[in-house]
Amino acid sequence: MNTTTRNDSISRSRRVERLVRGQPTSDGAGVKLTRVLTQPLQQRLDPFLMLDAFGSDSAGDYIGGFPDHPHRGFETVTVMKAGRMRHHDSVGNTGLLEPGSVQWMTAGRGIIHSEMPEQEEGRMAGFQLWVNLAAKDKMQPPAYRDVPPAGVPVFALDDGATLRVIAGSTHGVTGAVTRPTTEPLVLDITLPPGTAIEVPVPAGHNAFAYAYGGGTLLVGDAADTSPVASEHMAILANEAAADGVRFAAPADATVASQVLFVAGRPLREPIAQYGPFVMNNVREIQQAVADYQRGVLAT
Ligand code: CO
Repeated sequence: MNTTTRNDSISRSRRVERLVRGQPTSDGAGVKLTRVLTQPLQQRLDPFLMLDAFGSDSAGDYIGGFPDHPHRGFETVTVMKAGRMRHHDSVGNTGLLEPGSVQWMTAGRGIIHSEMPEQEEGRMAGFQLWVNLAAKDKMQPPAYRDVPPAGVPVFALDDGATLRVIAGSTHGVTGAVTRPTTEPLVLDITLPPGTAIEVPVPAGHNAFAYAYGGGTLLVGDAADTSPVASEHMAILANEAAADGVRFAAPADATVASQVLFVAGRPLREPIAQYGPFVMNNVREIQQAVADYQRGVLAT
């Protein structure tokens, strides 16, 4: 880990606009997960379409995995915190997702993939984020990148807060992945009790923070913080005068506050989703379904 001396600071923090509690659901072949960013929030959090959190010590909750299924029109980002999953796809890529690794898959015009657990017991935990593609990019060829744990830059601030820069750039550190157009910033932040961090974010970018790991997260300027309980998402208000966001952990906390922070430039285009296909209108969705049924989605 590198310790940085460049401590990006902001003049005013965004505030919490709304708290959202994740909804228990299951997907794939019966994998239990918490859907944090749901379809009704897609316009508000444009360009982000979905965030799932998964975490279980019980194999029955994940052993079915995610057998072959298609995607078109967006990107999936898988952040592994614990456990191992094996990825296979129609482009011929294969990869092992292990703790600390990140998988960035651009479905583009079409990909069929599977993500299956490579363990029969023990803990499995992580996140999957869906990032929309601009209309002009939705039919680009699919792409896949596996980032091993060592490929995700990590740094600590002087007070002990640590950041893993999954995507985008902050504090002079460029993350494992950078993407044009939506410019996603994805940070996995750990705040020991009494620590804080300020992250610059353009006022027009949409942003949210998902607190996890048991600790309470404090959002806002030091004199005006709002608590975000673990396993809740805070949608952060877009205010012209706010040039970033400040996160802190209560000084009297017994565990660190952990937060997955996500921000990006909105596309402001129509969103049409039908399951694993996200396009701009119904006609394009019908085309995706027809292509999949004819076996040409991922060719
Ligand atoms: Co998938």
